[in-house]
Amino acid sequence: MAWSYARRRQRVLIVSSHPLFGQGLRSLLQERVAPTAEVVGLAATTDEAAKALKALAPDIVIVDYDDQAVNREEFLAYFVESAGPMRVVLVSLKETGPAVVYDRRTLAVSQVEEWLGGITAMAYPSHEAPKAAAGRANRRHLVIVGVLIVVVTVVVSLLLDQIGLLPVAASAQAGVIDRLFNLHFKVISFLFALVVVFLLYSVVVFRRKPGDTEDGDHFEGHTGLEIAWTILPLATVLYFAYLGAQALADTRKVDPQAMVVNVTAVQWSWSYDYPDYGVTSTSLNLPVNKQVLLKLTSTDVIHSFWVPEFRVKQDALPGKDLVKELRLTPTVLGAYKVRCAELCGRQHAYMESPVVVMNQADFDAWIAKESVVSDNPVERGKKWAAQFGCDACHSIDGTLKVGPSWKGLYGKQETLADGTTATADDAYLRESIVAPNAKVVQGFAAGVMPPDFGQRMTEEQITDVIEYIKSLK
Ligand code: CUA
Repeated sequence: MAWSYARRRQRVLIVSSHPLFGQGLRSLLQERVAPTAEVVGLAATTDEAAKALKALAPDIVIVDYDDQAVNREEFLAYFVESAGPMRVVLVSLKETGPAVVYDRRTLAVSQVEEWLGGITAMAYPSHEAPKAAAGRANRRHLVIVGVLIVVVTVVVSLLLDQIGLLPVAASAQAGVIDRLFNLHFKVISFLFALVVVFLLYSVVVFRRKPGDTEDGDHFEGHTGLEIAWTILPLATVLYFAYLGAQALADTRKVDPQAMVVNVTAVQWSWSYDYPDYGVTSTSLNLPVNKQVLLKLTSTDVIHSFWVPEFRVKQDALPGKDLVKELRLTPTVLGAYKVRCAELCGRQHAYMESPVVVMNQADFDAWIAKESVVSDNPVERGKKWAAQFGCDACHSIDGTLKVGPSWKGLYGKQETLADGTTATADDAYLRESIVAPNAKVVQGFAAGVMPPDFGQRMTEEQITDVIEYIKSLK
């Protein structure tokens, strides 16, 4: 019968306290040498190994030489004493060279010393040739990857330029910011290429070939590479910090001739006061090519003044002593929009106001027109309502906003939050302006309207606004 001629399978015992070592070796042996060897046991300690030597009578014992939990002296004693033509293979993942094999029957004293003292490094001339070949192959891979990184960097950088992420640059300060921004894009393109090219190249070129079940090479590290990837990013970041500081200084360059505009942010509108001309407006009108110094404050919460085309941005903070400055030099005629760039409540997204950059003659004409105070109280009231931002919360066409609409308000019977009613006469309107929480109309939240209009508006302005409300039938 055929089987009686077949060689008996070698019985293998694995000794290691690391489950990964034992299990990994077992599956490897089962996969690769199943017809000639079988793993009959896994021992995690010296004692277990001693018992297994007796009970299982293995032909080959594979010992994890790096495992300090296995007592070598004890194990050696068991090994030498046990019967049978047993061989031990010491396997080390740390030492260089192949596994060392000891045969119980021919174990010499020098070998015992070697075993106890550590596996001595042996010279393996056959290793040198493949090493040099591998070095050449590695250099070839690096050159290809290097070229690909350069190509991908250029392509990504060009694509990013094409997208046009930034709106038109309409101020002198925008040029400074954009130079820095575009330089960042170059670095980002390079970093993207660095990561993606290495990744995809490895996935494609080093993928496992069919039938290849070997582990990859083991690397301990590369000091030169580690120093490089620490120093280079640090230097890059420091260089950008220097460029950033320089750009910040550039955007803050002072022109002593700058025109001052006081900007007041309020939930949820902007108003602009030109102290040199005695003009207040809800739109920011600016002469072209002239520096303007904005002095920003808020009457309630933190807002942020931002015109994307001008690039620069500055928070407006509540508090009289916290006036923040922002310098702008508009360079392109046109209409833009101030946006609030700080989440500031329900209407934050709609807290916008027009910005118009005009030539000096148009600006002078606008100032002249705005300086004229109308002798019609309704006209004046309309102007104050816009200037103090009333229209952010009160519509004049019946639309429901944060507060009651002014359309048809005068003389109306209002039902209040406490269920009582009140007639919207002059006294009621005045009280609602200076003490907005005294009578809150049913369906509207208390405490939303700023309580300081009594201080910010003059008596005459309040009277004008009431006249304006009266006119909205
Ligand atoms: Cu003001 Cu957002």
